[in-house]
Amino acid sequence: MSEFIENADGDKARLFAAIADDIAAQGYSVQPRALPQSLCHALLNHVQAMPPAAFKKAGIGRDGQHQQNALVRKDEICWISGSSEAEQAWLDWAATLQDYLNRQLFLGLFSFESHFAHYGPGDFYKKHSDAFKGQANRVLSVVVYLNQAWQAGDGGELLLYHHESAETCLKIVPDFATLVVFLSEDFPHEVVAAQRDRFSIAAWFRTRSN
Ligand code: OGA
Ligand code: MN
Repeated sequence: MSEFIENADGDKARLFAAIADDIAAQGYSVQPRALPQSLCHALLNHVQAMPPAAFKKAGIGRDGQHQQNALVRKDEICWISGSSEAEQAWLDWAATLQDYLNRQLFLGLFSFESHFAHYGPGDFYKKHSDAFKGQANRVLSVVVYLNQAWQAGDGGELLLYHHESAETCLKIVPDFATLVVFLSEDFPHEVVAAQRDRFSIAAWFRTRSN
């Protein structure tokens, strides 16, 4: 296990239990400043040290019809492969969460994918779903924020809607180490335009595809 997370086993057990309880009860969980601080700092240092060219314009749509659409989203992304210590520590942490949720909730989470995202000033991601009913793939979405001292007025909030209604059910400030987990099919969501650079990790657990 990585040096970044081994000192926080008690906190981690409490955090994972809280996430599992929330998912079972309401399908989403928001955990302010919950990812281990040392892991978050390592990820932030890593992302800040990356050359700008590592980030590519994000696309929308799936597989064959992948396309870029600046009307829908304007962020830039970089997929996480585990090629640095910080990335590997993040993948290790996610693997322990996957294991815990599979044992507690029988979600059948099978694989994991994640990317860094950078929203520059004015960048947004319009309301969308991460998965579509009947096309079993992404089961659980996870978002982590890497922004220190986010201020009221900096924008960039995540709005989470409940599937059944158009009303926002939650507005989440993209504060450092805040963790959001939700059932991918059930919660359309959007990112309000950011007024300053905004860094996040977006991640998904998938089931085994048939
Ligand atoms: C996404 C996404 C949310 C965020 O990348 O699919 O919804 O707050 N990100 O960065
Ligand atoms: Mn999304």
